[in-house]
Amino acid sequence: NNSNPLKLTESSGILYPYYFGDDPRVKLKNIKNIQSKTGDIFLCSYPKSGTHWIMEMVNMLVAGSIEHPTKFNFLDPMIISDQVLDSIPCPRIFQSHLRFNQLPASFLKRKGKIIYILRNPKDVSVSLYHFVQKEGRTKYTGKWDEFFQLFLNANVGYSSWFDHVLSWEREKEKGRHPIHFVFYEALQKDAVTELDRMSKFLSLNHPHSFLQSVAECSKFTKMRNQQYLYHPFPADVMDDNYIDYLFRKGIVGDWRTLFSEEQSMQLDEVCKAEMSDSKLAFSYE
Ligand code: A3P
Repeated sequence: NNSNPLKLTESSGILYPYYFGDDPRVKLKNIKNIQSKTGDIFLCSYPKSGTHWIMEMVNMLVAGSIEHPTKFNFLDPMIISDQVLDSIPCPRIFQSHLRFNQLPASFLKRKGKIIYILRNPKDVSVSLYHFVQKEGRTKYTGKWDEFFQLFLNANVGYSSWFDHVLSWEREKEKGRHPIHFVFYEALQKDAVTELDRMSKFLSLNHPHSFLQSVAECSKFTKMRNQQYLYHPFPADVMDDNYIDYLFRKGIVGDWRTLFSEEQSMQLDEVCKAEMSDSKLAFSYE
């Protein structure tokens, strides 16, 4: 299907990946109605912003141990049933690419804690381009130049990166809800400082030495070499090679391998226009 090369579905102006089904409203409603439990935590992000990395870190912070089975409770593709949700040990750490107002109503009412992960849009688009080519049910076959236009025009899963980030920034600025921002690039620069901030945000008081161990154990090469015990995707989506494309390069600045000078300037222009009200600053190197 040329008009929809990423096989997306649409609801209220936002595009969703195949795992939302033909009518995303059904799944969105089920998610909205999830009964929150005390201590539930959400890790939210636009796709390819470093969610697996943060998930690993937060799992360790919450468990207070670096020896724990990694659970990846990625809500969006999950089968939303009481049985599945109740089987997750508390405190439950969920991950989602949805916007703030799409999270479970009871979780928002309870003012549960949310960590929002951000990464510069050039690296996000390149990471996403590699991902959609490999992902079992998407298998995008277009060239980078075409994909770049899809990304700029919000014709990708979860639609506009700019809108996603801005909507979360607005929500954080309102100050009505505990939302903590973590930048992928800041984690690369100084993971321990960011871990300390996350730890404090989660009301955990971990000593420096433990944070250092967490930083060490969640390094790219370590995570790449370990198997996830739980991933909610069907086998045809997360095939045996999934480690290769979930943990691809893990660096800042890989966008230079695909972006032309012109594309870089074009994205800078769009960023300037779309993010004129934003106080966020992204680093690209
Ligand atoms: P690249 O494709 O640029 O390598 P997400 O987890 O949100 O899907 O994001 C995936 C991106 O995070 C990939 O980027 C992946 O390599 C990177 N990543 C995953 N684990 C990482 C880690 N431990 N350290 C640094 N980057 C990591």
